[in-house]
Amino acid sequence: MRVGIIGCGQLGRIHAHAYARAGVQIAWTADADENAARALAAEYDSQWTSSFDQLLKDDSLAGISICVPTHMHFPMLKAALEHGKPVLCEKPLTATLQEAYELVRIAAEKPAWIQVGYMKRFDPAIRAAREALTQIGTIQNAQFRSYLPFTAAGWERAKQRWIVDKARSGGGALVHSGSHTLDTALWFCGPVVSVASQVQYKPDLPEIDYSAQALLWNAESVPIYLDVAWLPLTGIGHRHDGWDEVFTVTGEKGIVQVRTSWWSQFETGRTVLQVYTETNRSSQVSSFGPPDYFAHEIAAFLESLKLGEPPQVGLREGIQVQILIDAIFKSSREGRRLDVEQI
Ligand SMILES: NC(=O)c1ccc[n+]([C@@H]2O[C@H](COP(=O)([O-])OP(=O)(O)OC[C@H]3O[C@@H](n4cnc5c(N)ncnc54)[C@H](O)[C@@H]3O)[C@@H](O)[C@H]2O)c1
Repeated sequence: MRVGIIGCGQLGRIHAHAYARAGVQIAWTADADENAARALAAEYDSQWTSSFDQLLKDDSLAGISICVPTHMHFPMLKAALEHGKPVLCEKPLTATLQEAYELVRIAAEKPAWIQVGYMKRFDPAIRAAREALTQIGTIQNAQFRSYLPFTAAGWERAKQRWIVDKARSGGGALVHSGSHTLDTALWFCGPVVSVASQVQYKPDLPEIDYSAQALLWNAESVPIYLDVAWLPLTGIGHRHDGWDEVFTVTGEKGIVQVRTSWWSQFETGRTVLQVYTETNRSSQVSSFGPPDYFAHEIAAFLESLKLGEPPQVGLREGIQVQILIDAIFKSSREGRRLDVEQI
């Protein structure tokens, strides 16, 4: 099987590594920066280009990974759908909700599909946590917290990149790390019907949220507390490295809790799962690692390509997160609880 990759930065390199481990030929690497495309091509014996069209026109490619900054997802996804080319697109789906709706409209008339890069769903511990929800009875409440360390130097580095430019990224903590957190919350607790939130911004970056808290209610009126922040705290978390991401679901018969480690430590980190059940009056703690979610995510993409079947994490999952991001920003702006549109 042959694939192509557009965007040869951080994530393009991670996808390339995973494809190579799966024994798949990376036929093309593409990047607006020719040096980046050329360098990655040299590592994987690929052809390189700066043109996305080149990948779309190559009928020998089974699929394409899209790993460019978020504002470029929409034009590339639209073109891929129109060319009938299945893609694995990094998260979040789009920079705006309007673009996400437009993709849904186009996709309805096209045979191609989109897998969205919510790779935490492929973390074995997170999968085990979701399965363990059956042991804790009816869900009473849930908390999804994601704290990342952002020192003053980290902010200065971020300002040199696209990630804190609203037009290119769509937002700050809520969009970057929060999109994963929201996707996991939706996967564990089901569709959210209403939201009340407060979002905080840096004085020197008034469009970039560094912190967002929200109460989300699912269709059964279960309250889900979302807490996402980029903090100047560098020693918190179960590995004491400033990464403190904890998902806790409380049921009438027990509690399921997962603690993840740095997203980029997929080959060294550990995810810890703790399941307390009232029947046993005890907790089972399992440490999974390394989580290797990108390899599992790419394997799922390849399997969908092979079988010609839609992906496990597709456009529907992608747009549900976009709807929530949009609703959280809006609820904070308007200072009121809002109903969330259902699709
Ligand atoms: N899954 C995750 O946990 C995770 C983590 C970080 C980033 N991401 C996502 O991955 C995507 C890429 O992020 P990154 O950190 O790799 O960024 P990056 O800046 O490291 O790399 C982006 C690359 O895209 C290239 N590029 C920019 N505009 C382009 C264009 N118009 N055409 C072709 N190439 C272009 C740049 O030259 C650069 O090489 C983003 O959507 C981001 O949100 C996902």
